[in-house]
Amino acid sequence: MYLCLMSNEIQLLQHVNSSIQEDTFVRLTLSKPIDSKDMLKKVIISLATIKRQSQLSFVYRHKTNDVTKNQQVQDGLSTIEDLLNNKFEIANLFTTASDYAYERSGAKSRLKQKEATFKSAPNRGHDKEKRHLIQGVEYLQLLGVLDKNGRVLKDKGDKFKQINKFVEVIESLLKNHEMVSNKDSIKVVDMGSGKGYLTFALYDYLTNQLKLDASVSGVEVRQDLIDKCNSIAKEVGFDKLQFELGYIGDYQLNKTNILIALHACDTATDDAIAKGMAANAELIICAPCCHKQIRKSMTESDGLDSLLQHGILKERQAEIVTDAIRALIMEANGYKTKVFEFISTEHTGKNLMIVGQRKKQATDPQKYLGEIDKLKKQFGIPQHYLESLV
Ligand SMILES: C[S@@+](CC[C@H](N)C(=O)[O-])C[C@H]1O[C@@H](n2cnc3c(N)ncnc32)[C@H](O)[C@@H]1O
Repeated sequence: MYLCLMSNEIQLLQHVNSSIQEDTFVRLTLSKPIDSKDMLKKVIISLATIKRQSQLSFVYRHKTNDVTKNQQVQDGLSTIEDLLNNKFEIANLFTTASDYAYERSGAKSRLKQKEATFKSAPNRGHDKEKRHLIQGVEYLQLLGVLDKNGRVLKDKGDKFKQINKFVEVIESLLKNHEMVSNKDSIKVVDMGSGKGYLTFALYDYLTNQLKLDASVSGVEVRQDLIDKCNSIAKEVGFDKLQFELGYIGDYQLNKTNILIALHACDTATDDAIAKGMAANAELIICAPCCHKQIRKSMTESDGLDSLLQHGILKERQAEIVTDAIRALIMEANGYKTKVFEFISTEHTGKNLMIVGQRKKQATDPQKYLGEIDKLKKQFGIPQHYLESLV
């Protein structure tokens, strides 16, 4: 058995080596750590030409961050052998001639040859720099996301991914948008800005990446967070980023181009949407948090008992109904809506995003109002809180 294990490993390493020599190597991935608690979850190895030399580029995928290291091919092959022996149970080698799937379980191992997934070798130039939409490191350090060396802090990996993903969503929404092409000065309000992670990143993106004249305000009920965020904004020289103490429902929202409300609690999301629509915002972006209002008022009505009889199912149903009605109310009020998951559930459960883009032409609200009524009747809901606001 041991011999078999060795021979499969050795064969795999030989395939890696020969595919590098023959320039058919595409990628090797090592996964399924032997120790399931290991923070290192996966290693992705590719071939890159760095300073005119072929090198193996290792991306070490940890639970919270990625680390890239490049090695000369011979050293890299030893590292692969070591990782295969001591760290991982699965290896997948992709070459333009064949794919190889290696798997070990205890003392048993197997190596399968398969048809090649990739028909040609990738460009061997050094991997392009990861696209960074946010440029500032200093504010992320002061906000406690990065350490003094610019690395993501151990418990902030999810937050960092969320910040980047959020900015990517903003990028796609603003692509070809008049606000950007006209280079207008724009006003953005973040309702329930909390610790300001996303507010800072948005300001950074709008001003440093898109070179817009953007004023961004965070509105928040907690004075300690307001003070901290204002002090960081001052320290990093974000002149037009400010945080104000305020309750969303009472906030006097003047002309605003973009309104965001991410994870504002329960009906605070509705307050924010209503304010955004009243201010005629071009874009309203919200990620709802909890959904208590509808959950409490939902009653088991005919045919739906089985959907609502278990707490968790009722909760999920309440989320869906709450957000579906929110989107319909926005549509009825002249916004084209999209509802999607903006980050994988592995990073946060609160990952639904509702985006409303103001329509150029008025639409007949009747169709949407009819849909809202149908849903309310079906779920025995007297009123959605957002209806009472618009
Ligand atoms: C879960 S945090 C989210 C923070 C930030 N938007 C984010 O996604 O990282 C929600 C924040 O909204 C604030 N908040 C909740 N209801 C609010 C309201 N009605 N008015 C102003 N702030 C509110 C809370 O104090 C909290 O800081």
